[in-house]
Amino acid sequence: MAGTQQVWLITGGVGFIGANFVQQQIARGDVRIVNLDLLTYAGNPRSLDNLHDHPSHLLVHGDIGDQALVRQLLAEYRPTAILNFAAESHVDRSIHGPEAFVQTNVVGTFNLLQEVLSYWRTLSPQAQASFRFLHVSTDEVYGTLAPTAPAFTEQHQYQPNSPYAASKAAADHFVRAFHHTYGLPVLTTNCSNNYGPLQFPEKLIPLMILNALSGKPLPVYGDGQQVRDWLYVEDHCLAIRTVVEQGVVGETYNIGGRSERTNLDVVETIAALLDELRPDSPHKPHRQLIQFVQDRPGHDRRYAINDTKLRETLGWAPRETFESGMRKTVEWYLEHGAWLESIRSAEYQQWINTNYKQRMAEYK
Ligand code: NAD
Ligand code: TYD
Repeated sequence: MAGTQQVWLITGGVGFIGANFVQQQIARGDVRIVNLDLLTYAGNPRSLDNLHDHPSHLLVHGDIGDQALVRQLLAEYRPTAILNFAAESHVDRSIHGPEAFVQTNVVGTFNLLQEVLSYWRTLSPQAQASFRFLHVSTDEVYGTLAPTAPAFTEQHQYQPNSPYAASKAAADHFVRAFHHTYGLPVLTTNCSNNYGPLQFPEKLIPLMILNALSGKPLPVYGDGQQVRDWLYVEDHCLAIRTVVEQGVVGETYNIGGRSERTNLDVVETIAALLDELRPDSPHKPHRQLIQFVQDRPGHDRRYAINDTKLRETLGWAPRETFESGMRKTVEWYLEHGAWLESIRSAEYQQWINTNYKQRMAEYK
């Protein structure tokens, strides 16, 4: 990696949001990035194919919990900001195997904080003041909302319901404590559900697109009336950039799309877009592929985000509506068959069997 621009250490920058963030920053051209990623099933190096020899991007294969490695990277590259995207991120996997979530999301984040604190303490007072540790978190830490309850604000009590949400909540608390106790200049963002290019097809939207394209059932959990707030991933990345540059140290910022939709609405939107964009598909109308299947245990009924603080104090607003973002997303998956093929591993098929075989006996 060459150049004189400031260096940011990004963790989990091969995953869905991290890779979109890395692409966005490299396109802006004003930072160099050290990208520390464990390359789990969720990290697809093909997402960064265009950056493998880029002078402003260095991919390091490793674990955020590996203190010796993190220490060495901090000493060698002297970053001015750390952005922690790395996580186990899928609720259904956290139900089947919560240990990995504790290991990466809690212990990993804690180990990372320990090393970052030691490094930060060696900096000059001026460099300490401008340094930032931004922790990327989720609205799921707040728990679930009744249908007409007001959206989550930053003051909402933490009430995590899934092992995933509990592990993210624990990490958020450690980040907060490292600021309160040691003065580490941290920022935390809590964002709603993201969608867009490069998302691993275990999550609702890419899974439905992939299944519909091959005429497989579209498995809607329970009655499909659970509500999520959806944000196009590039808008989330713009918000993170805004917070790392302008956010008030020690504060948390909610990020949302003001686009609450039921899961059934989302799946029907995808089906309609595919009918339009693939008029010759033998599976048309794709809506007929919808199947209601056994619900997720402990399934949160509704998430909604009040992002007034971010919009009014830092001036961020999303560029995409749900409709424009969904169209871009479906078009992207239709145009990137090779990327999709690259994730269809044995591990992927095994996960599909694990998660869906009991839910729907005929699921293949
Ligand atoms: P993802 O699962 O697509 O990617 C996670 C990345 O982290 C992968 O590249 C993986 O290899 C890497 N990773 C996992 N364990 C690691 C470890 N121990 N050390 C280093 N790297 C490791 O996740 P995502 O959807 O891109 O989410 C990124 C972050 O944003 C997560 O912290 C998640 O909690 C948060 N978030 C996600 C959403 C969403 O809708 N996807 C919404 C709000 C917040
Ligand atoms: P998901 O993408 O896993 O995100 P999260 O659980 O973090 O919100 O799921 C989004 C919603 O879609 C959630 O309410 C569960 C539901 N869902 C289905 O109905 N069917 C599926 O096959 C999947 C993966 C999710």
